[in-house]
Amino acid sequence: MRITCTVNGQPRDADDVWEGESLLYVLRERLGLPGSKNACEQGECGSCTVYLDGETVCACLVAAGQADGRDIRTVEGLADGERLHPVQQAFIETGAVQCGFCTPGLLVQVDALLRGNPDPSDLEIREALAGNLCRCTGYEQILEAVHLAASRRIG
Ligand code: FES
Ligand code: FES
Repeated sequence: MRITCTVNGQPRDADDVWEGESLLYVLRERLGLPGSKNACEQGECGSCTVYLDGETVCACLVAAGQADGRDIRTVEGLADGERLHPVQQAFIETGAVQCGFCTPGLLVQVDALLRGNPDPSDLEIREALAGNLCRCTGYEQILEAVHLAASRRIG
């Protein structure tokens, strides 16, 4: 089947898609957007988090057929040209990136958190990121990054 959707503000389509393949596969293998990571492909880790019609989802759990006609925003759509998104900048400055496999999903989920709650508490951050697993950082730098990004957005 042919999939037609909007990805990061651009109309995109993909041909010869099997309805049952995942949106994550379509993004990475058919549309040349490998930012969203395929760590577990079972909805457990959040490394594939993208926006689907403005809500965050695990792209590995969305069938390609379900994405037809929808609006998708991936980690590649966060930066403004050469200018990093404030959450990306904060992750770099606080050392919240180690192996980086969890990072794309976290960036999208943190962006979603701060859109709804511009100054979250530690508990609210931990709850919002409960579906995003990181094996490297112990989460402390990630919390620091979220607070830094929040302070800049508010300021
Ligand atoms: S790859 Fe989708 S949740 Fe892990
Ligand atoms: S930085 Fe390695 S899993 Fe998070």
